[in-house]
Amino acid sequence: MATAIIGTGGIGSAIARRLASGGETLRLASADHQSARTLAAQIGQAAVVASDNRDALHGADAVVLALRFAVLKGVIDEISAPLTGKLVVVPSNPLGIDAQGNLTRLLPKGQSSGEVVTGWLPAGARLAMAFGTMSADLFESSSNRSPEPAVLFYATDDARAGQEVERLIRTAGFEPVKAGGIEQSGRLEVGGDLHDLVVGPAEARSLIGAA
Ligand SMILES: NC(=O)c1ccc[n+]([C@@H]2O[C@H](COP(=O)([O-])OP(=O)(O)OC[C@H]3O[C@@H](n4cnc5c(N)ncnc54)[C@H](OP(=O)(O)O)[C@@H]3O)[C@@H](O)[C@H]2O)c1
Repeated sequence: MATAIIGTGGIGSAIARRLASGGETLRLASADHQSARTLAAQIGQAAVVASDNRDALHGADAVVLALRFAVLKGVIDEISAPLTGKLVVVPSNPLGIDAQGNLTRLLPKGQSSGEVVTGWLPAGARLAMAFGTMSADLFESSSNRSPEPAVLFYATDDARAGQEVERLIRTAGFEPVKAGGIEQSGRLEVGGDLHDLVVGPAEARSLIGAA
């Protein structure tokens, strides 16, 4: 199966490495192509560099938009039509950097990036918020944990998107656990109770139920 990854920075490159090591074929794109080229060279034959963001979607079953929240809408608008019929995976937290260089939340308290991104996607795109629930380092070091796999939480309103993102999560070396619909996706974000947790399936399910 082929997955496009648009954005090959901190989290996009970590997701790409984990998916490629699980056997996924990747089509990579970044703003100036350089980070995508460096990453593709590191991964080897499982990854190709697309000529642009739209080209990344050619032949891909799913796309991961590993982008900062501030550029997400612009890229979605740029590639909108081909997103119809695809799984769209978004790991983005609604964070930016203010004029003083401090991390700042870009959405009002209580509104999640998943709820906003839902309104930006074209009809027929299947959204799952996933792969942004851990820092990139923790994500990579927690994959293929044994004897009990670590959980990656996800949120979606779409049953088929759930099946598809579960396959990607397993390919990356984790056990998928659904936190709920997109209205629950704030729990996965920075500051959410399910963010940056490394837990097994039983504990993950009890945490979901406890909320
Ligand atoms: N890093 C983490 O540990 C982590 C963990 C969980 C969630 N997240 C979330 O994931 C999102 C991305 O974070 P990050 O740390 O990976 O950011 P990052 O390191 O800044 O990477 C952003 C990537 O987006 C690419 N990009 C920017 N504009 C683009 C455009 N118009 N078209 C295509 N690609 C474009 C950049 O391309 P260039 O490489 O060419 O500049 C870069 O590869 C954020 O919302 C963050 O909150 C991050």
